[in-house]
Amino acid sequence: MVTDVNRDEFFRTVTLKVCSSLDIGVAVKRASDYLQDHFPLDEVYLDILDSQLGAIRRIVHFAKSDGERAEEIVPLPEGVWEWARTLTGPQIIDARTASGPAGAIVSLVKMGGKSDLALPLRVEGELVGMLVLRAYGEGKYEQSHAELLSMVAEPFALALANALSYREVLRYRDILLDDNQFLNRELLSRAGDEVIGGNSGLRNVMEMVRQVAPLSNTVLLLGETGTGKEVIANAIHFASPRKDGPFIKVNCGAIPESLIDSELFGHEKGAFTGAVTEKRGRFERAAGGTIFLDEIGELPSQAQVRLLRVLQNREVERVGGDKPIPVDIRVIAATHRNLETMVSENQFREDLWFRLNVFPIIVPPLRQRKEDVPALTRHFVALKSRELGIATPPAIAPGALERLVNYSWPGNVRELENLVERELIRHQGGQLKFDSMGPITGRGKVETVMGESTGGPLDLDEAMSLHIAKVLEMTKGKVHGPGGAAELLGINPNTLRARMNKLGVNYGRKKG
Ligand SMILES: Nc1ncnc2c1ncn2[C@@H]1O[C@H](COP(=O)(O)OP(=O)(O)OP(=O)(O)O)[C@@H](O)[C@H]1O
Ligand SMILES: [Mg+2]
Repeated sequence: MVTDVNRDEFFRTVTLKVCSSLDIGVAVKRASDYLQDHFPLDEVYLDILDSQLGAIRRIVHFAKSDGERAEEIVPLPEGVWEWARTLTGPQIIDARTASGPAGAIVSLVKMGGKSDLALPLRVEGELVGMLVLRAYGEGKYEQSHAELLSMVAEPFALALANALSYREVLRYRDILLDDNQFLNRELLSRAGDEVIGGNSGLRNVMEMVRQVAPLSNTVLLLGETGTGKEVIANAIHFASPRKDGPFIKVNCGAIPESLIDSELFGHEKGAFTGAVTEKRGRFERAAGGTIFLDEIGELPSQAQVRLLRVLQNREVERVGGDKPIPVDIRVIAATHRNLETMVSENQFREDLWFRLNVFPIIVPPLRQRKEDVPALTRHFVALKSRELGIATPPAIAPGALERLVNYSWPGNVRELENLVERELIRHQGGQLKFDSMGPITGRGKVETVMGESTGGPLDLDEAMSLHIAKVLEMTKGKVHGPGGAAELLGINPNTLRARMNKLGVNYGRKKG
């Protein structure tokens, strides 16, 4: 019989205790230490339904005699959970009189000589679990106990629901951390790709990489398209103390202008129509690591202002946000365009250029480091054979390397890479002769190309490259905006740029 309980006090105390920790085991332990002043109590359980297992998961179990027990799975007699769902209040389960589903539980847990008081825990009508008080001896619980316990059903239910959500969050966090580590390792294995020419044509560049990698300063990579700026950016990140942090790449030319601010800097909920949730931008995602801003010359002016602020204060301001968020990042930017010219034409902010230009690294065009051509060719033959599933990489025909070395490589390393891939596809079985070189070069090469071609029709990629190159000639290298190649060709400038990169068409060197 329950006597002399101040019910307000009881409710308040149990609520405080059961809400005192997100670790449901700790919370229930604290609450039951108090409950035992008011109930016969030798054990406490908290059961939830594991619908995947079709069983009860006993997530908390204390016994006065031997303390906390490990989580256990209890097979569920058929119909018991359905029965539990129909319960409206606490249930006294008496081994002597129990029948039906309650009787099934009694025989399952062999509870002879014990008494149970079970409290269904519901959140918004949905059964989330069962709290069970157990006392040794028969007939220990009475209706007055059941009534008192029913007062705290809601705090227990909410605490349980919160704890379960919290567990879920932790579980997802672990999965994400694990994925992240896995992906970083994947990246690392790619980044482990050595920089071909690091000891020859790119020796000076690699020397600068070694100098700058241990620091956190901004690096600007300059060089024609396809020279390997991204390869160098990788090398810097993975040689830096940030190598285990994120390496976030952003192609500034590939994100539509209307989205770029929120993509890079994030936005607050409700910052604009469609901003239904808050969003971290790529700068925030790069925290602790490196952000690589490729095609920095394509950054719209509004984003230039925000970037300047990041570089000056190491703080990000989300779109629609009022307080800046500190970020620990290293910025590496790259462009094949002449930023100085862009500054003089008011297309790029001068103050931003100064900030970016503290440590410029110029990646020289391939024609100025022809000594790297043989090693690069062999590298790509091996790499592309693997990618294409060619078991034994074919040999390079005598004289072919000389031909490659003598070529001018307007599309730089990317052009060589593409050429090797095409050659591997064409000459499956035979030696690689590289005798159809040049079809994907830029302007002024049209006649040579036709003359050197095999006599058959050009393949689509070749035809497309030629056509794009011709149009670029007409527009004097202008890609986007009125009268630009994209407009003349009727496609989106970003799509055109991506295609030109893929095809190895050189572009953007307006003054070249
Ligand atoms: N030194 C190198 N060793 C191995 N591979 C290289 C090297 N330089 C470039 N490559 C390869 O050539 C291709 C083009 O390089 P990358 O994408 O880094 O050029 P980029 O300078 O960033 O060009 P763009 O300005 O067009 O973006 C890539 O596939 C890259 O892996
Ligand atoms: Mg690039």
